[in-house]
Amino acid sequence: MQSNVFIFDHPLIKHKVSILRDKNTGMKEFRELIEEITTIMTYEAMRGVKLVPVEVETPLETTVQYRLPEESVAIVPILRAGLGMVNGVHRVFPTARVGHIGMYRDEQTLEPQEYYCKLPEGIEGKTVFVVDPMLATGGSAIDAINALKKRGVKEIKMMSIIAAPEGIEALTRAHPDVTVYVSTLDRCLNEHGYILPGLGDAGDRLFGTK
Ligand code: PRP
Ligand code: URA
Repeated sequence: MQSNVFIFDHPLIKHKVSILRDKNTGMKEFRELIEEITTIMTYEAMRGVKLVPVEVETPLETTVQYRLPEESVAIVPILRAGLGMVNGVHRVFPTARVGHIGMYRDEQTLEPQEYYCKLPEGIEGKTVFVVDPMLATGGSAIDAINALKKRGVKEIKMMSIIAAPEGIEALTRAHPDVTVYVSTLDRCLNEHGYILPGLGDAGDRLFGTK
Protein backbone atom coordinates (compact mmCIF):
# COMPACT_ATOMS: atom_id res chain seq x y z
CA MET A 1 0.00 0.00 0.00
CA GLN A 2 1.26 3.50 -0.88
CA SER A 3 2.72 5.64 1.90
CA ASN A 4 0.03 8.32 1.53
CA VAL A 5 -2.76 5.80 2.26
CA PHE A 6 -3.67 5.29 5.91
CA ILE A 7 -5.77 2.20 6.66
CA PHE A 8 -7.08 2.07 10.23
CA ASP A 9 -6.47 -1.21 11.94
CA HIS A 10 -8.24 -0.55 15.20
CA PRO A 11 -10.50 -2.87 17.21
CA LEU A 12 -13.06 -0.14 17.85
CA ILE A 13 -13.40 0.54 14.13
CA LYS A 14 -13.57 -3.17 13.25
CA HIS A 15 -16.35 -3.61 15.80
CA LYS A 16 -18.35 -0.64 14.49
CA VAL A 17 -17.84 -1.51 10.81
CA SER A 18 -19.10 -5.05 11.44
CA ILE A 19 -22.39 -3.57 12.69
CA LEU A 20 -22.55 -1.10 9.77
CA ARG A 21 -22.27 -3.95 7.27
CA ASP A 22 -25.14 -5.91 8.79
CA LYS A 23 -28.21 -5.57 6.55
CA ASN A 24 -30.40 -5.64 9.67
CA THR A 25 -28.81 -2.47 11.11
CA GLY A 26 -31.46 0.26 10.86
CA MET A 27 -31.10 3.83 9.60
CA LYS A 28 -30.65 5.51 13.00
CA GLU A 29 -27.89 3.18 14.16
CA PHE A 30 -26.26 3.26 10.73
CA ARG A 31 -26.12 7.07 10.82
CA GLU A 32 -24.72 7.10 14.36
CA LEU A 33 -22.03 4.57 13.49
CA ILE A 34 -20.92 6.52 10.41
CA GLU A 35 -20.53 9.61 12.62
CA GLU A 36 -18.65 7.76 15.36
CA ILE A 37 -16.21 6.10 12.95
CA THR A 38 -15.61 9.47 11.26
CA THR A 39 -14.77 11.07 14.60
CA ILE A 40 -12.21 8.37 15.36
CA MET A 41 -10.68 8.81 11.89
CA THR A 42 -10.54 12.58 12.28
CA TYR A 43 -8.06 12.32 15.17
CA GLU A 44 -5.55 10.73 12.80
CA ALA A 45 -6.43 12.82 9.75
CA MET A 46 -5.84 16.05 11.72
CA ARG A 47 -2.23 15.06 12.30
CA GLY A 48 0.00 17.56 10.55
CA VAL A 49 -2.60 20.36 10.39
CA LYS A 50 -0.77 23.58 11.25
CA LEU A 51 -1.07 24.97 14.77
CA VAL A 52 -0.49 28.59 15.78
CA PRO A 53 1.18 29.71 19.01
CA VAL A 54 -1.04 31.52 21.55
CA GLU A 55 -0.24 33.00 24.93
CA VAL A 56 -2.34 31.44 27.70
CA GLU A 57 -2.52 32.55 31.33
CA THR A 58 -2.90 29.57 33.61
CA PRO A 59 -3.74 30.26 37.28
CA LEU A 60 0.03 30.03 37.86
CA GLU A 61 1.86 31.63 34.94
CA THR A 62 1.81 32.72 31.32
CA THR A 63 2.71 30.03 28.81
CA VAL A 64 2.88 29.65 25.02
CA GLN A 65 0.52 26.93 23.80
CA TYR A 66 -0.67 25.80 20.34
CA ARG A 67 -4.15 26.01 18.81
CA LEU A 68 -5.80 25.16 15.51
CA PRO A 69 -6.83 28.40 13.80
CA GLU A 70 -10.64 28.37 13.55
CA GLU A 71 -10.54 29.12 9.85
CA SER A 72 -7.93 26.51 8.94
CA VAL A 73 -10.11 23.52 8.06
CA ALA A 74 -13.03 22.91 5.71
CA ILE A 75 -15.10 19.79 5.23
CA VAL A 76 -16.39 18.94 1.77
CA PRO A 77 -18.90 16.08 1.74
CA ILE A 78 -19.63 14.45 -1.60
CA LEU A 79 -23.45 14.40 -1.75
CA ARG A 80 -25.35 12.59 -0.69
CA ALA A 81 -23.65 10.01 1.47
CA GLY A 82 -20.75 12.27 2.48
CA LEU A 83 -23.26 14.34 4.49
CA GLY A 84 -23.37 11.49 6.98
CA MET A 85 -19.74 12.14 7.93
CA VAL A 86 -19.89 15.91 8.50
CA ASN A 87 -21.08 15.77 12.12
CA GLY A 88 -18.33 13.26 12.88
CA VAL A 89 -15.70 15.88 11.99
CA HIS A 90 -17.67 18.73 13.60
CA ARG A 91 -17.79 16.87 16.89
CA VAL A 92 -14.05 17.43 17.31
CA PHE A 93 -13.59 20.56 15.16
CA PRO A 94 -16.89 22.46 15.31
CA THR A 95 -15.72 25.61 13.52
CA ALA A 96 -14.84 23.88 10.24
CA ARG A 97 -16.67 25.49 7.31
CA VAL A 98 -18.60 23.14 5.02
CA GLY A 99 -18.65 23.08 1.21
CA HIS A 100 -20.82 20.72 -0.81
CA ILE A 101 -20.11 18.87 -4.03
CA GLY A 102 -22.99 16.90 -5.52
CA MET A 103 -22.09 13.80 -7.55
CA TYR A 104 -24.03 10.77 -8.58
CA ARG A 105 -22.74 7.74 -10.43
CA ASP A 106 -24.41 6.98 -13.74
CA GLU A 107 -25.73 3.48 -13.10
CA GLN A 108 -24.74 2.23 -16.56
CA THR A 109 -21.30 3.78 -17.09
CA LEU A 110 -20.43 4.23 -13.36
CA GLU A 111 -19.06 7.66 -14.42
CA PRO A 112 -19.60 10.41 -11.80
CA GLN A 113 -21.82 13.34 -12.80
CA GLU A 114 -21.38 16.64 -10.93
CA TYR A 115 -24.70 18.39 -10.24
CA TYR A 116 -23.85 20.87 -7.45
CA CYS A 117 -20.85 22.75 -6.10
CA LYS A 118 -20.92 25.40 -3.37
CA LEU A 119 -17.72 26.06 -1.44
CA PRO A 120 -16.82 28.44 1.40
CA GLU A 121 -14.98 31.67 0.57
CA GLY A 122 -11.23 31.37 0.98
CA ILE A 123 -11.28 27.60 0.60
CA GLU A 124 -8.00 27.74 -1.32
CA GLY A 125 -6.12 28.56 1.89
CA LYS A 126 -7.63 25.80 4.01
CA THR A 127 -6.88 22.17 4.67
CA VAL A 128 -9.85 20.45 3.05
CA PHE A 129 -11.23 17.12 4.26
CA VAL A 130 -13.21 15.52 1.43
CA VAL A 131 -15.58 12.99 2.99
CA ASP A 132 -17.53 10.15 1.39
CA PRO A 133 -18.19 6.83 3.14
CA MET A 134 -17.63 4.78 -0.03
CA LEU A 135 -14.57 4.81 -2.32
CA ALA A 136 -15.58 2.31 -5.01
CA THR A 137 -14.14 2.98 -8.50
CA GLY A 138 -12.75 6.23 -7.09
CA GLY A 139 -14.38 8.26 -9.87
CA SER A 140 -16.47 10.49 -7.57
CA ALA A 141 -13.55 11.30 -5.28
CA ILE A 142 -11.20 11.99 -8.22
CA ASP A 143 -13.68 14.41 -9.81
CA ALA A 144 -14.48 16.16 -6.51
CA ILE A 145 -10.76 16.69 -5.88
CA ASN A 146 -10.32 17.96 -9.45
CA ALA A 147 -13.04 20.54 -8.75
CA LEU A 148 -11.27 21.66 -5.55
CA LYS A 149 -7.86 21.89 -7.22
CA LYS A 150 -9.40 24.00 -10.03
CA ARG A 151 -10.39 26.47 -7.30
CA GLY A 152 -6.83 26.60 -6.01
CA VAL A 153 -7.05 24.22 -3.02
CA LYS A 154 -3.63 22.75 -2.28
CA GLU A 155 -3.98 20.80 0.95
CA ILE A 156 -6.51 17.98 0.55
CA LYS A 157 -7.21 14.88 2.65
CA MET A 158 -9.70 12.22 1.58
CA MET A 159 -11.63 10.28 4.24
CA SER A 160 -13.74 7.21 3.44
CA ILE A 161 -15.18 4.54 5.69
CA ILE A 162 -14.88 1.66 3.19
CA ALA A 163 -12.71 1.44 0.07
CA ALA A 164 -12.11 -1.06 -2.70
CA PRO A 165 -8.49 -1.61 -3.78
CA GLU A 166 -9.52 -0.45 -7.29
CA GLY A 167 -10.67 2.92 -5.89
CA ILE A 168 -7.53 3.49 -3.86
CA GLU A 169 -5.38 2.63 -6.86
CA ALA A 170 -7.26 5.02 -9.17
CA LEU A 171 -7.36 7.86 -6.62
CA THR A 172 -3.68 7.70 -5.68
CA ARG A 173 -2.71 7.54 -9.37
CA ALA A 174 -4.83 10.60 -10.22
CA HIS A 175 -3.92 12.57 -7.05
CA PRO A 176 -0.63 11.33 -5.58
CA ASP A 177 -0.42 14.47 -3.41
CA VAL A 178 -3.65 13.68 -1.52
CA THR A 179 -3.45 11.67 1.71
CA VAL A 180 -6.18 9.04 1.86
CA TYR A 181 -7.68 7.83 5.17
CA VAL A 182 -9.76 4.68 4.93
CA SER A 183 -11.24 2.93 7.93
CA THR A 184 -11.50 -0.45 6.18
CA LEU A 185 -10.08 -1.89 2.97
CA ASP A 186 -12.47 -4.35 1.33
CA ARG A 187 -11.89 -7.15 -1.20
CA CYS A 188 -13.05 -5.87 -4.61
CA LEU A 189 -15.88 -4.39 -6.67
CA ASN A 190 -18.68 -6.48 -8.15
CA GLU A 191 -19.86 -6.14 -11.76
CA HIS A 192 -22.18 -3.26 -10.76
CA GLY A 193 -19.39 -1.27 -9.09
CA TYR A 194 -20.49 -2.16 -5.54
CA ILE A 195 -17.87 -2.86 -2.90
CA LEU A 196 -17.63 -6.46 -1.58
CA PRO A 197 -18.34 -7.36 1.15
CA GLY A 198 -19.25 -3.65 1.59
CA LEU A 199 -22.39 -2.36 3.22
CA GLY A 200 -24.67 -1.77 0.22
CA ASP A 201 -25.72 1.70 -0.89
CA ALA A 202 -24.51 4.11 1.79
CA GLY A 203 -26.80 6.99 0.71
CA ASP A 204 -29.91 4.81 0.79
CA ARG A 205 -29.02 3.36 4.20
CA LEU A 206 -28.24 6.80 5.69
CA PHE A 207 -31.37 8.50 4.41
CA GLY A 208 -33.83 5.62 4.22
CA THR A 209 -34.51 6.05 0.51
CA LYS A 210 -34.84 2.30 -0.17
C1 PRP B 1 -21.93 6.59 -3.90
C2 PRP B 1 -20.95 6.98 -2.80
C3 PRP B 1 -19.87 7.68 -3.56
C4 PRP B 1 -19.83 6.94 -4.87
C5 PRP B 1 -18.66 6.00 -4.84
O1 PRP B 1 -22.70 7.65 -4.25
O2 PRP B 1 -21.51 7.76 -1.78
O3 PRP B 1 -20.11 9.06 -3.78
O4 PRP B 1 -21.05 6.18 -4.95
O5 PRP B 1 -18.52 5.39 -6.06
P1 PRP B 1 -17.27 5.64 -7.02
O6 PRP B 1 -16.05 5.57 -6.17
O7 PRP B 1 -17.38 4.48 -7.99
O8 PRP B 1 -17.45 6.96 -7.70
P2 PRP B 1 -23.91 7.54 -5.31
O9 PRP B 1 -23.42 7.80 -6.71
O10 PRP B 1 -24.61 6.23 -5.10
O11 PRP B 1 -24.82 8.76 -4.95
P3 PRP B 1 -25.65 9.05 -3.60
O12 PRP B 1 -24.64 9.35 -2.52
O13 PRP B 1 -26.46 10.24 -3.97
O14 PRP B 1 -26.47 7.84 -3.28
N1 URA C 1 -21.59 3.40 -3.53
C1 URA C 1 -22.17 2.81 -2.45
O1 URA C 1 -23.00 3.43 -1.76
N2 URA C 1 -21.84 1.56 -2.15
C2 URA C 1 -20.94 0.85 -2.88
O2 URA C 1 -20.68 -0.32 -2.55
C3 URA C 1 -20.37 1.47 -4.01
C4 URA C 1 -20.69 2.76 -4.29
